[in-house]
Amino acid sequence: MPLDASHPTLADGYVAPPLIRAYRGERPETTPVWFMRQAGRSLPEYRELRVGTDMLDACLTPELASEITLQPVRRHGVDAGIFFSDIVIPVKLAGVDVRIVAGRGPVLAEPVRTPADVAALPALDPTALDPVREAVRLTVAQLGATPLIGFAGAPYTLASYLVEGGPSKEQLKTRALMHSDPGTWSALLTWCADITGVFLEAQLEAGASAGQLFDSWAGSLSLADYTAHVAPHSSRALEPARALGVPLVHFGVGTGELLAAMHGVGVDVMGVDWRLPLDEASRRLGGTVPLQGNIDPALLAAPWPVLEAHVRGVLDRGRAAPAHVVNLGHGVPPDADPTVLTRIVEFVHAHG
Ligand code: CP3
Repeated sequence: MPLDASHPTLADGYVAPPLIRAYRGERPETTPVWFMRQAGRSLPEYRELRVGTDMLDACLTPELASEITLQPVRRHGVDAGIFFSDIVIPVKLAGVDVRIVAGRGPVLAEPVRTPADVAALPALDPTALDPVREAVRLTVAQLGATPLIGFAGAPYTLASYLVEGGPSKEQLKTRALMHSDPGTWSALLTWCADITGVFLEAQLEAGASAGQLFDSWAGSLSLADYTAHVAPHSSRALEPARALGVPLVHFGVGTGELLAAMHGVGVDVMGVDWRLPLDEASRRLGGTVPLQGNIDPALLAAPWPVLEAHVRGVLDRGRAAPAHVVNLGHGVPPDADPTVLTRIVEFVHAHG
């Protein structure tokens, strides 16, 4: 389905902002910059607003989700808002008992491991996504010319939480299921792809101008497993978003060996973590793919001259790609000093 005529990118006199131009492969006058996890615990104004409200309840309260999304845009002057939500929101909205445990992450009341568990996964009623649509509409109305990025978790990363029952380092049970019971695996990833696909579609239809698919834990997979057992499901998750014609970004941690395969699922831009220099990432992608990344989040805690030299290096290597959006190589750590993030934005806008 095409975007509705009320979508901000279809307004009279719409001029694509630097972020969208870079995602399309152009080099705007200033290099755009935003940060994964820019909303959240690094900001005192976020911690204040969240007192007494459960994480997933905050995501599903449109006024609150909207305000939290806007906080880092006002404070840092970043080139985009990233919608405040979580990859497990569509899981919760389908009726699965999932909570976010502070300092840990998403935890399920009952892990999903057997053919019967998978068969019992409930369908997601599209009207359950109404609070997400409403939060996006409120946010886009406030953002003006600054674009909003919508996002979703990729089927593999989502499935890893369902199978493990919570966060895990190496996704051992998940990868065992992939090989022991390919039929159940495929049914599980198809369910994940469908709910996450409509979650992303809902944000884009409601006014987000770009989408990012997070396959955060895909780095635990071999290229062969990724290609055979994961990529087709990621592709399926992106189908509704692709039909809308907005730029799409794909990101994972430790995915240097998977970059080309992840690009191949049908996205425009690749996010790169801090391990792989951007010029090498660009080489692995044939020099034709816009890149996003990849300041090492650890260096946010380093003295400014050290961090500045690192950011300069990221900008220099980013010139190997057709276009570059500066970001971190993963999310903002909760204890990061927010004034450092603002300083990076000013530096990138002045020197990028
Ligand atoms: O910029 C933003 O903050 C946008 C909102 C956003 C959140 N989660 C809010 C959140 C986004 C884009 C996500 C995606 C997400 N959630 C991913 C993919 C991105 C990545 O980091 O790789 C993953 C793997 C999750 C699952 C998840 N949710 C984890 C691992 C955690 C951290 C748990 C913790 O407390 O350390 C969460 C919780 C979560 N999601 C928080 C926020 C702000 C922290 C909870 C809180 O503030 O109480």
